[in-house]
Amino acid sequence: MRVTMIGAGYVGLVSGACFADFGHQVICIDKDATKVKALNRGEIPIFEPGLAELVEANVRQGRLEFAADTSRIGDAEVVFIAVGTPSRRGDGHADLTFVYEAVREIAPLLSKSAVVVTKSTVPVGTGDEIEHILREKRPDAEIQVVSNPEFLREGAAIQDFKHPDRIVIGTDDPHARTVLAEIYRPLYLNAPPLFYVNRRTAELIKYASNAFLATKITFINEIADLCEKVGADVQEVARGMGLDNRIGGKFLHAGPGFGGSCFPKDTSALLKTAQDHGVALRVVEVVAAVNEQRKRAMARKVVAALGGSVRGKTIAVLGLTFRPNTDDTRDSPAIPLITALHDLGATVRGYDPAGMEQAKPLLPAVQYSTSAYSAAEGADAVVIATEWEQFRALDLSRLKRVMAQPVIVDLRNIYRDDEMKRAQFRYFGIGRAAVIVDMRRPTSKR
Ligand SMILES: NC(=O)c1ccc[n+]([C@@H]2O[C@H](COP(=O)([O-])OP(=O)(O)OC[C@H]3O[C@@H](n4cnc5c(N)ncnc54)[C@H](O)[C@@H]3O)[C@@H](O)[C@H]2O)c1
Repeated sequence: MRVTMIGAGYVGLVSGACFADFGHQVICIDKDATKVKALNRGEIPIFEPGLAELVEANVRQGRLEFAADTSRIGDAEVVFIAVGTPSRRGDGHADLTFVYEAVREIAPLLSKSAVVVTKSTVPVGTGDEIEHILREKRPDAEIQVVSNPEFLREGAAIQDFKHPDRIVIGTDDPHARTVLAEIYRPLYLNAPPLFYVNRRTAELIKYASNAFLATKITFINEIADLCEKVGADVQEVARGMGLDNRIGGKFLHAGPGFGGSCFPKDTSALLKTAQDHGVALRVVEVVAAVNEQRKRAMARKVVAALGGSVRGKTIAVLGLTFRPNTDDTRDSPAIPLITALHDLGATVRGYDPAGMEQAKPLLPAVQYSTSAYSAAEGADAVVIATEWEQFRALDLSRLKRVMAQPVIVDLRNIYRDDEMKRAQFRYFGIGRAAVIVDMRRPTSKR
């Protein structure tokens, strides 16, 4: 099939490359000419494992192209819209400027019987508005508008795209359903995970899913706080809960609060939609508020670990992205943490395997390092903010040698207490007893 992808960001580029890999003929159009030039030189503008190889192979085999000029959509049978839908400044609604702009741009160029598919996360009713614009601009054409929300996670995007739990297809139109089934056909052998619903339902499934996952994270974060007070271990509580199939173990990892390019903006946009319709989503309201407080409160953990003040101290923060294996720092919990540490008078060194370029404009006062060990040089504490693989097996004796004090605040719970005791670190996780090492006689106490 001939597929056009409007937007070559995290979702558009991954989806476009995967569709090409399925055997479709794909062109990704992005209005960012610099990005397109880079792609045409074989450079991948984002960090996503496996993406460079996938793009390279499909470009080489002539199935994948990039362009900055929208008129290149040509005679595409399907046009996906995968542009950004950030939070609107001031009120938290989804900002649909990019979506509507894209629709207006493609309208005069579409063939007479195209299917337009919204992959961007958009509030309920956006598909109706897109249809309205297209009808007005193209009364001559028979264009179907479908919602096909994307559920991939950055850092595991290709795997998620190629092995989805479900593919939600929101349209009542039989022709559009057939076209979408044909696009995704190479993905399954005999049990299609296609879930057909009407368009508004599809739009809401995406927001409800993200809000539910955000709720799960926030729930376990609050349980973690309680664990710290009552001497329980949140990792074991989560495991004990997750073994129940009705609950499931995923998204039950206590941490510094959820961040990233989706959960914060999508919970906020869902709340606005509910308000507009006179419905109170109180659970989601509380989740959003608790999470906001939590992100900044993480600095208090560091303060407590350093005996009540960080003024004049040097803190090494390992991990600046919102999750490992991505360079995306949008709404990363590391940002409010570092800002709060600066406000409290600390010097912050930062290191991230892929996210430092994106972090620099957001956190200009951070001293950026070239490795975890150079960040830790002379530091009073190391804070693990993102669970990158390379932080999971740090050489603890080397780390201790270069630090001013052996203090680790592990906001992702990636180390075990006994390792820290052996290495003689003062170690503070989330929802677990701290390891307080007496330098002469290692012990653990609350
Ligand atoms: N990033 C994720 O993990 C993820 C997961 C699921 C869903 N989503 C949703 O997918 C959508 C895209 O997210 P993203 O992270 O890929 O965004 P992004 O900001 O990385 O990419 C968007 C791209 O669209 C381009 N663009 C904007 N307007 C355009 C136009 N008129 N014509 C051509 N290109 C245009 C931009 O230049 C940019 O490259 C959002 O709605 C997001 O909520 C994202």
